[in-house]
This record gives sequence, C-alpha cells and structure tokens, in this order.
Amino acid sequence: MKIAVYPGSFDPITFGHLDVVERAAAVFDRVILAVLVNPQKAVMLPTEVRLTVIREAVDEAGPAEIASRIHVESFDGLTVDFCRRRGAHFIVRGLRAISDFESELQMAHTNRKLEPEVDTVFFMTALEHSYLSSSLVKEIALFGGDVSQMVPPAATRRLSGSGRSL
Ligand code: PNS
Repeated sequence: MKIAVYPGSFDPITFGHLDVVERAAAVFDRVILAVLVNPQKAVMLPTEVRLTVIREAVDEAGPAEIASRIHVESFDGLTVDFCRRRGAHFIVRGLRAISDFESELQMAHTNRKLEPEVDTVFFMTALEHSYLSSSLVKEIALFGGDVSQMVPPAATRRLSGSGRSL
C-alpha cells in the first residue's frame, strides 16, 4: 500500500489544499492529511477545530471512495518521524507558483537528509486556486470579508463571524 503524508498548518484549509489532497488521493492508496501542532505559532483555528473542518471539507467535496482514503490527523515534531510512524514513504506538498519552489525545495532536501526513505512529491495546485493562501484568508476573515470563494463551506462556517473578536 502506498501511503503519503500531506503535512501543513491548514489554518484554515483552502480550496487549493483540497485540490492537492484530491490529486494525491488519485495517485496514492492512502493520504494522511497531517495538521502540525506548533505551540510556537499563533493560529486562528484551534487544532481540534481544524481537524473537524478538514474532515467535513473532504467528506463534502468529493466521491466517498476518495474521501475514505484521505485520513486526517494532527502531529507534532518532525514530519519525517510522523511518516515513519505511519509507514509512509512519501510527503505531498502543493506548488502554486515559482515563488513556492525555493522554500519547498529546501524543505524536501532537508527531509530527505533526515530520512532518505521518504521522498517529497509535488502537485501543482489548479490554476484557479493558485492565488490562494491561508494567511490572506485569515486576514480577510479577521476584517469580516467574504472568504466563501476561497475556502470550503466547512471552513466558511467556522470563519464567518470570527472577525475582530480574534
Ligand atoms: O502549511 P505550512 O505551514 O506551509 O506547512 C509547513 C510544514 C508543517 C510542512 C513544515 O513546517 C513541517 O514539516 N514542520 C514540522 C517540523 C519539521 O519536520 N521540520 C523540518 C522540515 S524541513
């Protein structure tokens, strides 16, 4: 069984992330969408909420056969250690534009140095989602803007009304 881990902050998950995980599920038998718990990073949505939002978004988005092969979990520590624990030999990451490439290349090489048995595989985010970023979504939601064209309905439900109180 080919298992891949798709790590990230997903604060919140966007249509771009959803597109990447669905592309990955077309290639791998199981994709574990892994939400990093990083106490040093200020987040908008608590981990448990992010996990619930992602699960709902995946279930609402696509065919049940694909959704059933996408697992959602949180993790802390190194991504490669989490991969080892789950028997995953692949890390999935999305590329939106050339600007993503440099940091992703650095991360992929570092992860390979840490764990040569784990390879990073990149999927190009669909063009219509390539402008999206979680940080911009957070800023828009913070100021009460409409993010419904940027994030799945499950995330819109949690973000609407969150403005200014954060
Ligand atoms: O969604 P993000 O914030 O771009 O995801 C970054 C993430 C979580 C993939 C990266 O920070 C990560 O893997 N963190 C876990 C700690 C780790 O393994 N660090 C070494 C990676 S080079």
